[in-house]
Amino acid sequence: MKSQVLFPFLLSLFCGAISQPILYSIPEELAKGSRVGNLAKDLGLSVQELPARKLRVSAEDYFSVSVESGDLLVSGRIDREKICGSKFECALEFESVTENPMNIFHVIVVIQDINDNAPHFIAKSIELAICESALPGVKFPLDSAQDADVESNSVKIYTINPNQHFSLSTKESPDGSKYPELLLEKPLDREHQSSHHLILTAIDGGDPPLSSTTQISIKVTDANDNAPMFSQDIYRVTLQENMPPGTSVLRVVATDQDEGVNAEITYAFLNAPASTSLLFNLNPNTGDITTNGTLDFEERSRHILGVEAKDGGVHTAHCNVQIEIVDENDNTPEVTFISFSNHIPEDADLGTIIALIKVTDKDSGQNGLVMCYIQEEIPFKLEFTSKNYYKLVIQKALNREETSEYNITFTATDKGKPSLSSRTRVTLHITDINDNAPVFQEASYVVHVAENNLPGASIAQVRASDPDLGLNGQVSYSIVDSDLEPRALLSYVSVSAQSGVVFAQRAFDHEQLRAFELTLQARDQGSPALSANVSLCVLVGDRNDNASDPGLFSLGLRTGEVRTARSLGDKDAARHRLLVAVRDGGQPPLSATATLHLIFADSLQEVLPDLSEGPAPPDPQEELQFYLVVALALISVLFLLAVILAIAVHLRHSSSAASGRCFQPGLSSKSGSAIHPNYSEGTIPYSYKMCVASQSAKTEFNFLNVTPEVAPPQDLLCGDPSVVACANNEDPRLVYDSSSSHVSACSPV
Ligand SMILES: *[C@@H]1O[C@H](CO)[C@@H](O)[C@H](O)[C@H]1NC(C)=O
Ligand SMILES: *[C@@H]1O[C@H](CO)[C@@H](O)[C@H](O)[C@H]1NC(C)=O
Repeated sequence: MKSQVLFPFLLSLFCGAISQPILYSIPEELAKGSRVGNLAKDLGLSVQELPARKLRVSAEDYFSVSVESGDLLVSGRIDREKICGSKFECALEFESVTENPMNIFHVIVVIQDINDNAPHFIAKSIELAICESALPGVKFPLDSAQDADVESNSVKIYTINPNQHFSLSTKESPDGSKYPELLLEKPLDREHQSSHHLILTAIDGGDPPLSSTTQISIKVTDANDNAPMFSQDIYRVTLQENMPPGTSVLRVVATDQDEGVNAEITYAFLNAPASTSLLFNLNPNTGDITTNGTLDFEERSRHILGVEAKDGGVHTAHCNVQIEIVDENDNTPEVTFISFSNHIPEDADLGTIIALIKVTDKDSGQNGLVMCYIQEEIPFKLEFTSKNYYKLVIQKALNREETSEYNITFTATDKGKPSLSSRTRVTLHITDINDNAPVFQEASYVVHVAENNLPGASIAQVRASDPDLGLNGQVSYSIVDSDLEPRALLSYVSVSAQSGVVFAQRAFDHEQLRAFELTLQARDQGSPALSANVSLCVLVGDRNDNASDPGLFSLGLRTGEVRTARSLGDKDAARHRLLVAVRDGGQPPLSATATLHLIFADSLQEVLPDLSEGPAPPDPQEELQFYLVVALALISVLFLLAVILAIAVHLRHSSSAASGRCFQPGLSSKSGSAIHPNYSEGTIPYSYKMCVASQSAKTEFNFLNVTPEVAPPQDLLCGDPSVVACANNEDPRLVYDSSSSHVSACSPV
């Protein structure tokens, strides 16, 4: 505790005047009872006289006087800031009074400041907004802190917490107060750190110093210092083809670290060709890419779009969008003919290539994998040669006469799911080769021509067919051989090359030529030509153009009864063999033949062995005996015969030509008047009967061309030549003794 007593005051006390105040100086905030100074002593009073003088002070709030020692003591709180505020000098002035005698003294207690107040900031925090584009060196003066203390106890210095961007300096304003000033040391980046929080500390000059802090909040405002950035440099997306317009493809996203307008991004296609903008839409605000048209894989399987993002300022960013189109099976396979010969000769070799086929499918992968096949059962086969190529080759021999054209359907199917297929149909024509010889309708022909026929009349027609086409099937006929003399042939018959009709060139004479045989040839016009031969047997029938003997036998047309037509003459043979043909009325008529062996004898006993032996060739010895017997018998009846013959001739004259009927020659049973006694009724001892089917009522019996009058020549032409068959089941050359004029035959070839 320090007290100051100023000497002049003491001096004035001695002089008994109160003009000079007593001065003390104490620091503020002394504890109660603290001694300020010895007032009694300073007033010149002794300790003993103090009770009597009753020393006291007027500023009782703050001070009191000790009765024992006369000390001036602190009796209340002395706060300099309360008493004097921010005044630089502060003193309490009061009076000290003594009684006995009453005296008044002026006392001044100077209150010295102590650092009992810390600085403080009025605002809780300091808000600052600094643009990120601010350059280093920019200064920001801040509000100063307040400190109730004065002089050195007031604010002396400001500090901030260490940081990268700012420093702080303490500045003095003209009134002497200190204020802080913030200095930007390093550039700010809003995108990196959009705000900074600093602690500003104000420290006073006291000992110990007091301090206080406040927050500086620095908001870094945006400058358009960032370009937009796409989330990917390249966007890849796959898309089915044939998606409807408006299908979402993908969204490109660009971000800008700036904010506000500086971060408002618009998207656009970059250098887009017109085709791209026709196919795709880009939403400028969202970056959504959608299809605008229909995408066709086959047209383009990949699209690359450049997209630009632009912020509110001048910054842009680019990215690429790769759109892979995924193939769909939307193309049908096609068949193309690299080569195709649609006319193939029927004799083409097996393995001959008819067509070379290419299959194509615009799709790719499995969708474009094509199989080709033919479905028809045809003699061709489709062979795979190499990728997408097939050849159509002949697998089986062709025959135009069986199948002259083929419709071939090529089916091409791809392997997509579902698969598509197409069909192509071609017609393949088989061209003709002369591989068929003409074929006659009959194996051989037999015609009967009655003698005295009209020269130039047709007597037969042969016909051959040839299934080949055109000239290859065009048949012409000719006579290539005959048993006639080659020079005579031309005067006998000719054949029409076109129709195969055989013409008689002259009237035939049965008595000169009974039969002849021709070999006819049918020949086509192919190259080389093919031909076939057939034999034509012409039988010249007899007409009664000579006074000659009538035939020996007649046959009942319906009954099948064989009768002698006249009496047996010397010249007649004893043995006869007759061939009887039977024909029904069916269509075509069917016929059969039977052979009849006849032996003429005087008595049955004579011929019985012969008969029992059947038609075995007769023993020459027996035959001689037989002839002798017959000769004797003939001589014995010769006379009778002469008489009967005379009558018969007479009868024939009277009923001349009344009988035009076949099989009713003059010497029939009905003529009756001159019958051989042995063969009355005209019946031979053995009649051969045919059994015929009951329903076949119209069965006819015929000797083979027994009667020359049977058929006129035109009948032979019009009728079926097979009606009368040659006896080719027996000894074919001869069915009757050649001396007999009634039956003759030849064998068909
Ligand atoms: C082939 O097709 C044509 C036309 O459709 C038809 O006239 C012809 O009869 C067919 N040929 C065969 C052998 O099927
Ligand atoms: C047909 O007959 C002629 C003459 O006899 C002969 O030269 C030819 O080879 C025969 N043709 C056939 C196919 O038999």
